[in-house]
Amino acid sequence: MTNKTDLLITNNWHPPTIEKLDALYTTHKLWEAGEGEAQMRLLAKIADRCEAVSTQGFINDDFAQSVPFPKINQAFMETLPHLKIIANFGVGYDTIDTLAASDRGIAVTNTPDVLTDDVADLAIGLLLATSRCLVKADRYVREGNWRHASMPFSRSLTGKKLGILGLGRIGEAIAQRATAFKMSIAYYNRNQKDVPYPYYKDLLSLAKNSDMLIAVIPGNRETEKIINADVMKALGPQGTLINIARGSVVDESALVQMLQEGHLGAAGLDVYQNEPHVPQELIEMTENVVLQPHHGSGTHETRMAMGQLVMDNLATYFEKKPLLNQVN
Ligand code: 8YV
Repeated sequence: MTNKTDLLITNNWHPPTIEKLDALYTTHKLWEAGEGEAQMRLLAKIADRCEAVSTQGFINDDFAQSVPFPKINQAFMETLPHLKIIANFGVGYDTIDTLAASDRGIAVTNTPDVLTDDVADLAIGLLLATSRCLVKADRYVREGNWRHASMPFSRSLTGKKLGILGLGRIGEAIAQRATAFKMSIAYYNRNQKDVPYPYYKDLLSLAKNSDMLIAVIPGNRETEKIINADVMKALGPQGTLINIARGSVVDESALVQMLQEGHLGAAGLDVYQNEPHVPQELIEMTENVVLQPHHGSGTHETRMAMGQLVMDNLATYFEKKPLLNQVN
C-alpha cells in the first residue's frame, strides 16, 4: 500500500471519482488541509515526489479568498518541482497557466467531448426559457394569475437568427440543435470553418445580424469582456444574450446596465464573473433574465464521464502512454 503513487487533488470536484482515485493513489487533498499556511505545509511535504495534480476548471471565489493558490499558476507549480501532469476536471482550463506549465514540461489535460451534448442542451434550454418565458410562466401558474387572465405572449424561436460566438465542439452541437428548431445560424470564430453556416469576420456584425447570441468560447486574455456594451447594443432591445461559456467573456456591469436601460432585451446565463456570486441587479430582473448555477455539464452521467476521463488521463501518464487529452 505504501508504494502507491502520490496525487494532489486541489478541490472536491467530484466525490465519486475522488473516491476511486483514493483507491488507486495516495491522495493528498488540498482543501482538507486547512487554509493558507496549512496548505503550504502539505505542498512542502509532498514536494520531493508529487508528479500529478488533479484540479477543477474553476475555483469559486469563496475558496479563492482562503487559499494561497486560487489558480494553478507558476508559483503553485514551483512548489512541486517534480510535477509532470495537471489533469483538469472540465473542458475549460482557464485557471491553469498552460504557458507556465509548458515551460516547465508539465502536461495539462482536460475533459472534452463527454460534456458537449449536455452543455449544448442547456444552451437550448436557456434559449427556450428566455424566448418562451418558461420560468416566468411557471411563476404565473403558481401565483394563481392564470385564473384571472391568460399569460402575455412570448416570442417564438422558429425563424429567428442565432449568432454563435465560438464554433467549437459545443458551438457545433448547439448549431445542430438550433437547426432542428428552424433557426438560421451564423457564427463568429477566430477562423472560418468548413460548415454550412454563414461566417462573420467580426463579432459586432454578427451581433447586429442576430436575434439571439450565444457565447461558447473559452475564457482567456483574448476573450475577456469580448461581449461589451457595443455588442449588446448591436443585439438590440429585442435581442437576447446567452452565456454558457465563462463569465469573463461578458462585461458584466455593462450587461446589467444594458438590460436596465433596455438596450438589450433579455439574458440567459449559466456563468458569471465572480462565481458563485451573481450581481444582485441580475437576481432582481425576473422578467427577462434567466439564471443558472454554472451547471452545463452538471448531470450524473456527464460528471461521471468527465471523472473517468480525468482518471484515464492520469493512468496513461503513469503507464507512460500518450495522454488522451493534452491541451498544451
Ligand atoms: C464545470 C465547465 O464547470 O468543463 C467546463 O469547462 O465549465 C464545467 O464542466 C466544471 O469544470 C466541473 O465542475
